[in-house]
Amino acid sequence: MSNVVETPVLCARGLRKEYGKGEGLVRAVDGVDLDVHAGETVALMGPSGCGKSTLLHLLGGLDRPSGGEVVLNGRRIDNIGEKSLARMRRTDVGYVFQSFHLMEELTAVENVELSALMAGHSLRAARRRAEELLDQLGLAGRSRFLPSALSGGQRQRVAVARALSNDPLVVLADEPTGNLDSAATLDVLQLFKQLHESGQTLVIVTHDARIAATADRMFSMRDGALVDQTRLTGGSTGNLGVLLGLEG
Ligand SMILES: Nc1ncnc2c1ncn2[C@@H]1O[C@H](COP(=O)(O)OP(=O)(O)O)[C@@H](O)[C@H]1O
Ligand SMILES: [Mg+2]
Repeated sequence: MSNVVETPVLCARGLRKEYGKGEGLVRAVDGVDLDVHAGETVALMGPSGCGKSTLLHLLGGLDRPSGGEVVLNGRRIDNIGEKSLARMRRTDVGYVFQSFHLMEELTAVENVELSALMAGHSLRAARRRAEELLDQLGLAGRSRFLPSALSGGQRQRVAVARALSNDPLVVLADEPTGNLDSAATLDVLQLFKQLHESGQTLVIVTHDARIAATADRMFSMRDGALVDQTRLTGGSTGNLGVLLGLEG
């Protein structure tokens, strides 16, 4: 059963991002239209340099487009002021990066609660939420560990917990398994499947067909544009998942 309802949480319209000028002009994102609905998992695949990270940055307000619109929860974010944009990033969006981006001097639980604190939660509420998430992600016994004492898969689970700690409208993940070995990849894959099943809206950039197979829809990106869409029947419980041995 898919848990998709037809309410776009995130929309891009004619989205463009250019770098440089003249001979050196790069059209990193070149006219992207995309609707991501509540509860939906969307996967983006494509070769290195085709604009996946740039698109994700534009969708999450980490970067400003050269043209076009981004609408999050019914509100334009491409043209709002820096303060509003920063607030939106803290409260509405969770990011997961390939290289984890954890604060090395903070423990796992401190890393997770930091983003809840920045989103305006009290110290006590942020800590409770952080412990709860680490527990759910199987890291209860590791909450006082520094990132350097954790495996790659555990670090990425901490990063996912951090992304979830402010209850974001959408989680944007940029090659979340790109730095993981195959056992840790399966671990994180399982985690994204759970998030999908729990109704979290997700956009995942990935090179991993198994991750993409957990999505409701998969887009191929080439030269800054979305060139092909595959609807995966029923997302994580779909045929492709069965085909790839993800189910059961
Ligand atoms: N800050 C930047 N300045 C100049 N060019 C950039 C910048 N960021 C990305 N690019 C270029 O934009 C294109 C898309 O990059 P990126 O979005 O990182 O692709 P992907 O994530 O698919 O590998 C590439 O040609 C890249 O070199
Ligand atoms: Mg990238």
